[in-house]
Amino acid sequence: MTRIKIGPSSKIPPGTIAEINVQSKIFAVANVSGEFYAIDGVCSHQNGRLGDGKLKDYVVKCPRHGSEFDVRTGKNLKGPWIPFGKATDLKAYKVSKEGEDLYVET
Ligand code: FES
Repeated sequence: MTRIKIGPSSKIPPGTIAEINVQSKIFAVANVSGEFYAIDGVCSHQNGRLGDGKLKDYVVKCPRHGSEFDVRTGKNLKGPWIPFGKATDLKAYKVSKEGEDLYVET
């Protein structure tokens, strides 16, 4: 397991999701009521950037074709819709906070 520092938690206010690029990895990191969650930042369908998606509660909607993923588990909950093909589950990562900084475990 590797622990990667992904920066200050203040960059991701509650109710938002952001793309974090670090060590050649792309994460989408969400803040749901002060709890942080990280999943792969690139959609499993056609590479939409989930850090640019809309977050509602624990669900992020891909900005490209609207697939929805649970930020706690990476599970593909919906879509995309025919004829766009299929999205698969994404990897979810444990996030911890130390002082003001966030860390992702990969
Ligand atoms: S790229 Fe995400 S739903 Fe198509």
